Order: sequence, then structure tokens, then C-alpha cells
Amino acid sequence: MQTPTPPRGIQPLWTRAFHALDIALLLVMVSSGLQIYNANPVFGGREGMTLPAPLLLGGWLGGGRQWHFAGMGLFALNLGIWIALLLRQRHRRLAALDDVSSLRASQSQPRRRLASHRLVYTAMLIVLSLALLSGLAMYKPASFWWLSGCFGNWQTLRTVHFATVPAMAALTLSHGVLSWRIGGLRLLRSMVG
Ligand code: HEM
Repeated sequence: MQTPTPPRGIQPLWTRAFHALDIALLLVMVSSGLQIYNANPVFGGREGMTLPAPLLLGGWLGGGRQWHFAGMGLFALNLGIWIALLLRQRHRRLAALDDVSSLRASQSQPRRRLASHRLVYTAMLIVLSLALLSGLAMYKPASFWWLSGCFGNWQTLRTVHFATVPAMAALTLSHGVLSWRIGGLRLLRSMVG
């Protein structure tokens, strides 16, 4: 039996579940990660710029690490399932080269919007995978020495892992704005609830 297609602008249950869980998990990972960062800023060490308490989770370095490590398994599982489901979709959901061509050459506004939206959420999955890989390389550097080695040195590894925070903030904002321009408030609401 075929799965009924949800009405236009309404997301299937699995998309809504993923979005809600992912937003919660991302908030935990970002705020606990920034708590860890504050103990020894990536740039400038102990003298470097720290972030204000409302952005942090855990209260101190040990608390931040506990939250971060508690969330990482669920975060990895959630991301893995989401990517697998997107790859199994009958209609292509992830970006491809023709989206770049559409952005360059197409005169149709809706088509350009759809292409940029696909590129944005595909980039989000890439950045999240990079957070996972660089996080894993820092978490178990002895077991994953080959993965840590791919980043060159520890400072680059930390910088890449940290850079996923501003990258995700910018991409999430673009994802929200583009969803709103494509499907209005109805689509935005249907993405999480
Ligand atoms: C499975 C996924 C992840 C793993 C295994 C992981 C692992 C780690 C580890 C091992 C550290 C260093 C802890 C320490 O030095 O005590 C860390 C720090 C950090 N993580 Fe993650 N992490 C993951 C996902 C994320 C995500 C999704 C974000 C945000 C987008 C994030 C943001 C941060 C930040 C900002 C820091 C502090 C960077 C620093 O000061 O070096 N992490 N993470």
C-alpha cells in the first residue's frame, strides 16, 4: 500500500520528528560545546574571548563535557537516520549539480528558490557530519588517529569543530528564511509541529 502524500506545505511525520529532535539536540550540543570552549578559547587560549552565560550549558567545564558527551550518541543516530531517509526518498531531496546550474541560469524565481533551499539544507547535513567527524576525532584521538590525522594538527581540528557552530547558525537562519519564502508560515510551522 502506498503511503499517502501529505498536503502541500505539510511535512511528513518523520520530517517533523527529526526537526524537533534535531533542534533540541543541536541546542544542547552548541551550548555545552560553548561551555567547553569557554574553559580554553580556541583562539587566544585563556586570554581569548569567552561567551556570556546565557549561551552556555553545564555551569562549568565538567558539566559542559557531561552534557556534550551525553548528547553525542543521540545526535549521531539522529543524523544518520535522517540522511538515510533522505537518500531513500523517491523524489530527489538532496542538492545536485543541476541546482547550481539553476541558480546560475534559470529565470524562474520559484526554481531558483527551490535550488538554493536544497543547497542550503544539503550543506547543513555536510556541516553536521563534519561536526560529528571532528568531534569523534577529538573524543577518541588514539582510536581514530587516522581521522584526527586528516585535520593536520590539534588546533586545526578544534578550529574546524568550533567553526561548525557559526556555520550552522548561518545555515539554520537561511533554511528558515527560504522555507518561509517558499511555503510561508504554514510550511515553517509544519516543519516542527
Ligand atoms: C557526535 C558529535 C560530537 C562529538 C563526538 C563531539 C565531541 C567533542 C569533543 C571531544 C570536544 C572537546 C571536549 C574537551 O576538550 O573536553 C568537543 C568540543 C566542542 N564541541 Fe563537540 N562534539 C560533537 C558534536 C558537536 C556539535 C553538533 C556541535 C555544534 C554544532 C559541537 C560544538 C562543540 C564546541 C563549540 C566545542 C568546544 C570547542 C573547543 O573549545 O575546542 N559539537 N566536542
